[in-house]
Amino acid sequence: MNTPTKLTIVANLKMNTTVSEASLLLNRLHKELEGFNGANIVVCPPATHLFALHREVTEFKGTPHMVIGAQNMSEHEEGAYTGEISAEMIADFAKYVLVGHSERRKYFDEKDTVDAQKMSVALRHSLKPILCIGETEQQRNNGHTKQTILDQLNVGLSEITASDLKNITIAYEPVWAIGTGNFAKPAEVETAIELIKSTLQQIFQSDNSQTVPILYGGSVDVDNAKAYLDLPGINGLLVGGASLNYKKFAQIVKLA
Ligand code: PGA
Repeated sequence: MNTPTKLTIVANLKMNTTVSEASLLLNRLHKELEGFNGANIVVCPPATHLFALHREVTEFKGTPHMVIGAQNMSEHEEGAYTGEISAEMIADFAKYVLVGHSERRKYFDEKDTVDAQKMSVALRHSLKPILCIGETEQQRNNGHTKQTILDQLNVGLSEITASDLKNITIAYEPVWAIGTGNFAKPAEVETAIELIKSTLQQIFQSDNSQTVPILYGGSVDVDNAKAYLDLPGINGLLVGGASLNYKKFAQIVKLA
């Protein structure tokens, strides 16, 4: 997984589907994409589904290759944190974990410093964290897009080292584009990718920083996906709403 040449398409199911609905979705998707080997597929279901869906994907034969990711995890290793799920718990079932999704930041007041801890704990348990960053509409309107990206990277990656870079992914997800249908212009995404790459180089001073996969997310759909996938420096997509429709998601994957 995560080779720079093969694109990664991530499905974020958010708080949708029961286990049986998600299982059906996965099976249909697998059938629809039979024989397709052009992309790495990561499906991030709700935490209650991880065990069952991990079992299913390991039993899928042939291509496409699918793995499971988690949508969130605790920044703590273990202990008295009622309701929380640790990296060690999800690592039995998931290969990837989303960190700092804007909905976590918005509705659960998740801070960059907490995401920094999550990045380090995830890596300690051999998970591949996907750090989600991006500016809000207000930050954009105030001309603070660049500073927001710089801050989120500088703080969010403050607890990892250059040797960890081969196991992380960055998803650029402008908050104003998520779930709104108001997707970012490819040129805006290209600028963000360049900024992310130069910031990673500045922070880590390592060639590894240029091989960190960068994804775009925010109202990705069948009609706009190709324009992002054609951008220089992009390594895939993070798809929310459209991933709940297996036909749409399969079509997006096939564009990779
Ligand atoms: P969306 O969600 O595709 O529905 O905009 C993307 C995301 O939240 O990662």
